[in-house]
Amino acid sequence: MTLLPLPADLQPLSGTFILSPDSVIQAGPDTQQTAGQLADFLRPATGFALPVVERADKTPAIHLELSADLTTGPEGYELEVLPGGVTLRAAAPAGLFYAAQTLRQLLPPAIFSPQVTQADWSMDAVLISDQPRFGWRGQHLDCARHFMPLPFIYKLLDVMALHKLNTFHWHLTDDQGWRLEIERYPRLTEVGAWRKGTRKGHERDPNGQFDNVRHGGFYTQAEARAVVAYAAERHIRVIPEIEMPGHAQAAIAAYPQLGNTGEALEVAQQWGVIEHVFNAEESTITFLQNVLEEVLDIFPSPYIHVGGDECPKTEWRESAAAQARIAALNLPDENALQSYFIARMDTFLQERGRHLIGWDEILEGGLAPHAAVMSWQGEEGGIAAARQGHDVVMVPQTHVYFDYYQSEDQASEPLAIGGYTPLEKVYAYEPIPAELTPEEAKHVLGSQGQLWTEYIATPEHAEYMLFPRLCALSEVLWTPANQKDYADFRQRLTPQLERLQALGVGFRGVD
Ligand code: ACM
Repeated sequence: MTLLPLPADLQPLSGTFILSPDSVIQAGPDTQQTAGQLADFLRPATGFALPVVERADKTPAIHLELSADLTTGPEGYELEVLPGGVTLRAAAPAGLFYAAQTLRQLLPPAIFSPQVTQADWSMDAVLISDQPRFGWRGQHLDCARHFMPLPFIYKLLDVMALHKLNTFHWHLTDDQGWRLEIERYPRLTEVGAWRKGTRKGHERDPNGQFDNVRHGGFYTQAEARAVVAYAAERHIRVIPEIEMPGHAQAAIAAYPQLGNTGEALEVAQQWGVIEHVFNAEESTITFLQNVLEEVLDIFPSPYIHVGGDECPKTEWRESAAAQARIAALNLPDENALQSYFIARMDTFLQERGRHLIGWDEILEGGLAPHAAVMSWQGEEGGIAAARQGHDVVMVPQTHVYFDYYQSEDQASEPLAIGGYTPLEKVYAYEPIPAELTPEEAKHVLGSQGQLWTEYIATPEHAEYMLFPRLCALSEVLWTPANQKDYADFRQRLTPQLERLQALGVGFRGVD
């Protein structure tokens, strides 16, 4: 068996189940939707239009059942393959959907082909009982530095589902582009979604030039809603990220009153940490809460990401208005002003039944009461937050930043931001820091890959950076820690790459 991520428990049985044009899928009213998805998964490569029926009088059948008393949790499932029939059982629809993903992998990799293919459509008999190790299993995608077309986002969601990932973190705003339509503030996309050019080469290259090619794009609210719906069908929640108070130049270019200097800015063309940040006036907080109001209406996600990283305090230090604000609020310094800013968003989201999440810099001036922390600069921020009783997602750049190089020989790779994160290092990542007590460790929700796109302009390049590292991360997040085995993973990766190939997904070859 070549399942990836490896399931929690698998008992081989004897015999095989042969899928044929006469097979049927049997489902009740509560399992119809997954049954239809399973039929759709199996149709292109086999050419079999398997009917979904309420009662399967004739064999062989694939049965789908929801059973509340199953002990595999909301995302777990049981999958039993016997020569006479297959049964997918789960306590909730997400588990049933993951059982269907496992079933696909029990068939030859050619099952992922979009065209009818000749293959032996049989599955070895087996009993699988499975559930994930972590509840937050994700992938982030920066669509601000380079706009990523919608078909690529749909494709990524499909491949995430295949890896039983459940969280898509959509980075929608940054210095170099604002990518989400906000009806109340049309200039955010009229102006903020477009830049006049892009820095060529690495940002550290002293001879850097600009390409002078206009770049941009944005997602309409209808498009974003369609992404949310498509993801939900695959049991993936979409966490939008609206950056504040830093990484804000595109928004300030659209509405200069949001900045600190009154200076007319353009949407940024260079990378790095930029000093132009939002001011902390009441009017700016209201503006951003009005933006969030529309964001909440589009994204039902329980978590809303407000960024919070890399916010230089230079402008706040030099601005009389910011200093007056610090004094009026009786705050000690600029870090406390950032914490005040984030705390206002925390209250706003909490009142609307949502949770704020931000990068670990939101700890710096004191953590907002309900905030969850995404720990990227290392594990320290996550450890500190978990010890304070806050939920954390562990995303240290050393292990799960997929914009990092995949080879020590950087010249042999496409230009990247830096670092070196080979497949084995991702696979070895352990999201629970040894320093935490079991009680504190319960606050570690999981992890996700990060794909920042300063140097990644196309879906093809994005796929090269994502795969197979995301395959390794899926196993970190799903499989019980004591069953992880890199050599065994590498064996199972070969058919996984054949599956990706059949799906038309690019990947980097394995050393
Ligand atoms: C980050 O990489 N600035 C979160």
